[in-house]
This record gives sequence, C-alpha cells and structure tokens, in this order.
Amino acid sequence: MQLSDKKATLSFSDGSAPIEFPVYKGTVGPDVIDIRKLYGQTDMFTYDPGFLSTAACESGITYIDGDKGELLYRGYPIDQLAQSCDFLDICYLILNGELPDGNQKQEFDSLVTNHTMVHEQLRIFLQGFRRDAHPMAVLTGLVGALSAFYHDSTDITNPHHRHVSAIRLIAKMPTLVAMAYKHSQGQPFIYPKNDLSYTGNFLRMMFATPCEDYKVNEVVERALDRIFILHADHEQNASTSTVRLCGSSGTNPFAAIAAGVACLWGPAHGGANEACLQMLEELQANGGIEKVGEFMEKVKDKNSGVRLMGFGHRVYKNYDPRAKLMQETCKEVLAALGLENDPLFKLAMELERIALEDPYFVQRKLYPNVDFYSGIVQRAIGIPTSLFTAIFALARTVGWIAQWNEMLSDPDYKIGRPRQLYTGQQSREVPSKR
Ligand code: SDX
Repeated sequence: MQLSDKKATLSFSDGSAPIEFPVYKGTVGPDVIDIRKLYGQTDMFTYDPGFLSTAACESGITYIDGDKGELLYRGYPIDQLAQSCDFLDICYLILNGELPDGNQKQEFDSLVTNHTMVHEQLRIFLQGFRRDAHPMAVLTGLVGALSAFYHDSTDITNPHHRHVSAIRLIAKMPTLVAMAYKHSQGQPFIYPKNDLSYTGNFLRMMFATPCEDYKVNEVVERALDRIFILHADHEQNASTSTVRLCGSSGTNPFAAIAAGVACLWGPAHGGANEACLQMLEELQANGGIEKVGEFMEKVKDKNSGVRLMGFGHRVYKNYDPRAKLMQETCKEVLAALGLENDPLFKLAMELERIALEDPYFVQRKLYPNVDFYSGIVQRAIGIPTSLFTAIFALARTVGWIAQWNEMLSDPDYKIGRPRQLYTGQQSREVPSKR
C-alpha cells in the first residue's frame, strides 16, 4: 500500500491536542486511515460493529466496486472470466495471481485431480451422522476432521505445506460434498474418476450409482462450473473474515476452513440461496405471481420479520454482477433442459421487476445478489435445495484458502483481537450471605 500525501486529523472538543493519522492508498477503491496508533495515543477505540467502515486487512485478490456493481478477481472482470475460463483456471488465478498458461494449466489440473480421494476412514466418520442431518452440519464436521488426517501439511509457516493444504482442500471438497449427499440418500459413495473434469467428476460422484454408467451432461457441467466461478471469492465477506481471524491464531488450515464453512451456513450469508428457493417455493404454493404484491407488502413491513431473500448486499448498492450472470445461466440451462416455463424462474423475475420499481427497495439500493437466481439453476440441474450452501462452500474454498495464505505470507501479520465498548456492571463485591 502507498502512503497518501493526504493526512487525517482527529480533533477534540475538550481542547486536547489534535492527532494526525497517515492515509494509505490502494490500487483502486477507498483510501484507508491508519488508526493503529489511536488507542496508544488517545486511550480510546473506534466503534464499528458489523465493520461497515473498517478495512481489516490489505489484499490483492478480489476487488468489488459496490456502486458500479463491479467484481474483479486479480484484476479480471468476473463476466470475462465466466465466459472464457473454467473453474480450475480461476482457482489457479486466485491462488497465484495470474491465469495459467498451457503447461501450468495441465500441471495444476492434474495435481488437483490426483488429490480428489479422501482418507478411507472418513467413510466411517460419516456413518456417525444421522441421514437427515443438514449437509452443512456434515460438511463442517468433515472439513474439520481433515485436520486429523493430514498432519504432514499443517506447518503454516511453511509455504510448501500451505500450498499442499490448498490443493488438498480444493480437490477434496467436491468429494466431501458428494459423500454428504450420498449419505443422506442412503446410497453408496462414488469414488472420484480421474478422466473427468473437476465439475464433471463432482456431478458423477453426486448422481452416479454402481448400477449403471453415468454420462455427464455437458450443459449441466458448464452451468455448474460457472456457478463455481461466480462463488469463488468475494473480498472480506463474513466467512472469509472468519477464516482470516481463525487462521490468525496459527491453527491448521483445515480448522480455519471449517470455521468458514460454519459461518457461510447462516441465512444472511451463504445460506441465503437455500432460504431464497424456499421463499420462492412457499410463494408459489400460496398463490404464486398473484400473491407477489401481498408478499412484498410483508417484506416492507419491518414487524413481519420477512426479508426478500437473495436481495440486498452490504457492499453492492447496484446490481450484483454475479446475479446478472446467474440469471443468464438460468435462462440458458432452463432452455437447454426444456424448462423455460419454470414457474419459480418466472416468479423470481416478477419479484425482481416489482422490487426494482418499488421505492422501498430503490431508496435502500436493494438489488438481487448472487443468491437470488443460483437456487433456481441448481434446482434445475438436480441439486437438492439443502445442498445449495454446500455447493457455495465448495466453490468458496479457493477464496478462503487464498486469503488465508495471503495473510500468513505477510511476515507482519498478527493474531486478530478486536476490543469493545464495555457497558456492563462496575466492579462489585460478591454478597457475603449467598
Ligand atoms: C452473500 O459479503 C458478501 O460479499 C457476501 C456474499 C459473498 O459472496 O460472500 O456476497 C454472499 O452473503 C450475499 C447476501 C445473501 N443474503 C441475503 O440475500 C439475505 C437477505 N439480505 C439481507 O439480509 C441483507 O441485505 C444483507 C445481510 C445481505 C446485508 O445487510 P446489511 O448490509 O447489514 O443491510 P441492513 O440489514 O442494514 O439493511 C439496510 C436496510 C434495512 O432497512 P432500514 O432499517 O434501513 O429501514 O435495507 C433493508 C433493511 O431492513 N433490507 C432488506 C433486505 N436487505 C436489507 N429489506 C428486505 N429484504 C431484504 N433482503
């Protein structure tokens, strides 16, 4: 980061001496006021619950311009990447900073492909879960359990160990998600097959059975690969910040990523895709498009506790570029599968149309986010609703591990330890007679 010639001065109304803070500039986007010395100089903290105005780190991986609705992975616009690359190209880019050339791609793809199997004992570990456990509960457990199997790559000070862990996590997440699904179905696990693409292999592990050959549907493979690309990374969102904070204690990468999986599960974050589809199905069952107006009134009534899931974003105050690409993917997949009259898609489009004209949404700059259409596409290609967030976690693993690695590669990184404004009891004596 580059020191700006601008300075920030903090002055106090009680006449105490003003304090000056340096301002740093990035490549693009908001500058930052470096307040690291604030507490030492003023005995005061800043106060920013929810981190609406706080940059917790410096990063060169992903840039979001919320006003423009722009998303760049290592400088490349998401729409160009989604059109020209596959998910493993994006994994290479996010991890290494550049798109792979021919040889690099071949080597990287082969490395990932040859790490897709998991330790055979994880099959027994899975037996401990109820068949009807939520896939995210299972996935949180499985990813955390990887710490118990891969002691040979948990020295976080060793860049090679960090690289091996990154490859293992990217490679094994599809296998773990598919195992969680098969466990819920009471079907046998399907081993990875190395002559398939990353996404084709995942589809086969999900939907093949030992009873017949499985042919990967190319339309579905391409759509799911694009869904992975759109979910790969997103700057310092809640789950990525969780991975950074968890990793800052020096814990092993599998434990840090398991923390990210747990955080992503929440309906305000990655769980919104499942919640959004449930919202659409409920609306469809209770009258569909005719009832949209009534539903929207509920959404606008603060006391109803009803939110338009898949809408709104902390950073995007314009259209989430991923939502646009997801809508296009939706149209392509539904047409290719002969489902262009999918009632849920029509319902979602109507909700979007009304919301984008309604002052409540316009004033609050609420637009569709990545989760609004992703559930419809996933449902169309046969992914069960309860697995949507696990698919999000599968794709986001590369972002989490790249951000974790970026933090640990900085020799000056410290353990994260926020402070508080204490509003509890003053010090007091325990009553003698208890
Ligand atoms: C993801 O951070 C990331 O980058 C996340 C993510 C990623 O890739 O990692 O992009 C993935 O998590 C996308 C977001 C998925 N969540 C949802 O779709 C759930 C529904 N949306 C929200 O609950 C909400 O919009 C958030 C959580 C996404 C953002 O919340 P903020 O920034 O804290 O905004 P807020 O709750 O303060 O809302 C501002 C106003 C409020 O109204 P007022 O108090 O000003 O009157 O907008 C209203 C909110 O009530 N509002 C909504 C709404 N979202 C915000 N009203 C109705 N429906 C909604 N969806």
